[in-house]
Amino acid sequence: MTLEIRKHGRVGAEILGVDLASPLPETDLAAIRAAFADHGVIFFRDQQITEEQHIAFAQSWGPININRFFAAHPRYPEIALVVKEPDQQHNIGGGWHTDHSYDFAPALGSILVARELPPQGGATAFASMTAAYDGLPPALKAQVDELQAVHSARHVFGSKAAAYESLQDTRSDGRIGNATAADVLDDPVHPVVITHPLSGKRALYVNPSFTVRVLGLSDEASADLLATLYEHAKRPEFQEDFHWRPGSIAFWDNRSTWHYAYNDYHGHRREMHRITIEGVSLS
Ligand code: SIN
Repeated sequence: MTLEIRKHGRVGAEILGVDLASPLPETDLAAIRAAFADHGVIFFRDQQITEEQHIAFAQSWGPININRFFAAHPRYPEIALVVKEPDQQHNIGGGWHTDHSYDFAPALGSILVARELPPQGGATAFASMTAAYDGLPPALKAQVDELQAVHSARHVFGSKAAAYESLQDTRSDGRIGNATAADVLDDPVHPVVITHPLSGKRALYVNPSFTVRVLGLSDEASADLLATLYEHAKRPEFQEDFHWRPGSIAFWDNRSTWHYAYNDYHGHRREMHRITIEGVSLS
């Protein structure tokens, strides 16, 4: 098999000619690492990997973050379950976000493996935050370049999160929980624009789910600025959908992309296995 990298529309790249069930030669690993840094999200098709192989692939990138808030796989705590049952209304990840920006050293990335898919729907959208940053009007770029923002998980996963409507039934049925852990988290501060640790590119690093405030601005000015940045980042030219098939895997960089899980398959089951890899401080 010969490794090939094919651009995935406006965001990401598909890696062809690799079998993640077998150890990869160093040249392939290097090419995959470069594609990941370059494109922000990489996709694999037609993979038949076990849970152990999923874990081994993730470990080749760094230590695994054991998720504090998602239900864990019954035999593999490294794997977080992203499941929606046929009788459930709300999905996990059904709003633009990047995983773990509420951590002091935000996650490098997440590797999502499709285990059970609905007959149609259930795609995931990705948005490039390097492209969004590059596309900012120069005055806005200059305004945000040196700013910092506070991120938090408490309003999403904590005990006061009852009003966070999109997570309500995921919480009551145990798919997402552990308010005690969320309540005691300290909120980190990250630059609004980061220099990406792998690519060296500048990327917008705020997101609608977990960024709560821009430092040094009034509450109103902070909310206005974040709303402006989100409206800009959600523009279609920075986005691409990924349509899952059996054997599909997506591996996204949490520092340079946002993602969004479509909730358009009511009455059907969708089960995905997610492993998140630890990252580094972005300050
Ligand atoms: C997530 O937000 O981590 C899950 C994305 C998906 O299920 O497509």
